[in-house]
Amino acid sequence: MHTDDFRRLFVGFVMVDTLVAMRWLERKWHVVVEKKLTEFEDEPFGEIVVHGGNDISDEAYSDGTEERMKLVTKVVFLLNIMKVGDRACLFASILVTVDIPEGITSIGYDSFVGCSSLKYITFPKSLTSIGKGCFAYCSSLVFVDLLHTNVQELGQCAFYNCTSLREMKVPDSLQAFGSNVFYNCSELVPSHIDVSEEYDSDLESVEESDEERVDVTSEVIAHLRSLQS
Ligand SMILES: *[C@@H]1O[C@H](CO)[C@@H](O)[C@H](O)[C@H]1NC(C)=O
Ligand SMILES: *[C@@H]1O[C@H](CO)[C@@H](O)[C@H](O)[C@H]1NC(C)=O
Repeated sequence: MHTDDFRRLFVGFVMVDTLVAMRWLERKWHVVVEKKLTEFEDEPFGEIVVHGGNDISDEAYSDGTEERMKLVTKVVFLLNIMKVGDRACLFASILVTVDIPEGITSIGYDSFVGCSSLKYITFPKSLTSIGKGCFAYCSSLVFVDLLHTNVQELGQCAFYNCTSLREMKVPDSLQAFGSNVFYNCSELVPSHIDVSEEYDSDLESVEESDEERVDVTSEVIAHLRSLQS
């Protein structure tokens, strides 16, 4: 049998990918592995981001986070977190694959904006909400499968200008989404459904135009469901 000392020594020689896989071993290993993984949090920006569920502020972005994000090739989520934080992977422009683990219920505001190489993303069953702007400008995203999730709502602009997005599977739980969710997603939503809405900083005119605006949510959801069957 292994002792705790042995476990701690051992994980010092293991690559992050292996550590992540090892989280599924028995509890004694789990404790040691989690602790080791948190050490990577001290240096969160390099090629790998170990994400602990925290939000990243606007200020952090202007302090150079944005430049460092451009080098990120992999993101690892710690166990026991329930949220992908706001702006967690904003502008990670060479990130290709993301695997969001089971247990996470929400993906925050602007989390993956501008991840222009992002192509493969898996979502957990536990997921219920996708935040505002979440996948905006993910121009390589072709296919999104939410069918097995419990997503109820897609935040405003969630897939804004995902110009390659061609297929999306949605669960029955999805009933609503904010404005401009599929703005310029012309491969996904046929041109007869107009999903573009103008932003207007003048609240009064927004209210006025609201009355004339046709809500296309149900039409788009019906369209997505028709592609599935
Ligand atoms: C949408 O993305 C395309 C590239 O995929 C880009 O040329 C275009 O400027 C973007 N549109 C907006 C409104 O940002
Ligand atoms: C929509 O995306 C296309 C690229 O597919 C881009 O050329 C065009 O500028 C975009 N339109 C708008 C209004 O953003």
